[in-house]
Amino acid sequence: MSLYYGLYVMLVPVFKLVEMVMRALKLDLVAKVLETRFGIFIIGLHDSRPKESAPKDSVSKTEIDHLSKMVNFWWDKNGPAKMLHTFYQVRVPLVVDGLAETGRIAKADTTKPDSLKGVRILEAGCGGGVLAEDLAQLGAYVVGVDPGKDMIDLANKHLETESVGLKNRIEYHAITVEEHAKKFAGTYDAVVCSEVMEHVDEKEMILEACVRCLKPGGSLFITTENQTMVAWFFYIILYEYILRIIPKKSHFYEKFVSADTVSAITSKYGCKMHRVRGFFYDRPVNSWYFIDNQDCNYGLHVVKR
Ligand SMILES: C[S@@+](CC[C@H](N)C(=O)[O-])C[C@H]1O[C@@H](n2cnc3c(N)ncnc32)[C@H](O)[C@@H]1O
Repeated sequence: MSLYYGLYVMLVPVFKLVEMVMRALKLDLVAKVLETRFGIFIIGLHDSRPKESAPKDSVSKTEIDHLSKMVNFWWDKNGPAKMLHTFYQVRVPLVVDGLAETGRIAKADTTKPDSLKGVRILEAGCGGGVLAEDLAQLGAYVVGVDPGKDMIDLANKHLETESVGLKNRIEYHAITVEEHAKKFAGTYDAVVCSEVMEHVDEKEMILEACVRCLKPGGSLFITTENQTMVAWFFYIILYEYILRIIPKKSHFYEKFVSADTVSAITSKYGCKMHRVRGFFYDRPVNSWYFIDNQDCNYGLHVVKR
């Protein structure tokens, strides 16, 4: 790993301390008052864009419209979505190791090129299909759903033109997870919801639908950003405002979610925690690593009873 990891290791305890002080002094309430009374926004804390007043599902039109603008560069491996294209380095082993640990695939098969053969996976919020294709490459049958029609069109276009060999192992649908769950409850070995939770206000709705799609004993994998000051600094201040490698207003602290919260919601719907693994994105070398710290990014694995 590069020196950048050293910076991360140094910053984590500093931010933790600041966070403790802020919590003790209830500075988050001060920030809310400043925002609501005087319109003084602290960058990336709260999402001031329009919200659904009575949400019927987990989808925010504002989020979908914002993300849809990214279709033009989604598959450019050196463009703004570059970090998504090396993310397989941790999110694929998260799924493969997890399914081996829970007995869905044999441990001896994890290193085989078709390690996921015969495994039926739902990718909830599949976007342009980057992860769906990574999983299908290993032999899984992947159903990708996403409420963003432009994203699904892009995923289909990429499949048709660049990845024809995977056509018999992937299908995409422009539909919400909640709608999909009405027809396909209890049918998947695994559901993967990667980098979606941070774009959803109604987290319980999407998580409930993800769990409903699983067979008993099936695995739900979530990757997202933790609700910490470290994640706020790296994803919003550094990536969006200083380095400008992610479009502004893609992330908000209030939408980040801790692994404890995801675990509590999914346990309400009959899941038990299997494992949480920390990830680190080493920007200068565009590589992802598993680390013990889960303050910025994490991958969570729960199992349906
Ligand atoms: C950052 S992209 C991640 C795409 C894909 N999972 C990946 O990692 O390559 C987030 C995706 O979540 C989708 N999304 C946003 N809200 C959603 C919701 N409530 N249910 C399902 N998908 C949603 C967006 O349309 C977008 O395609």
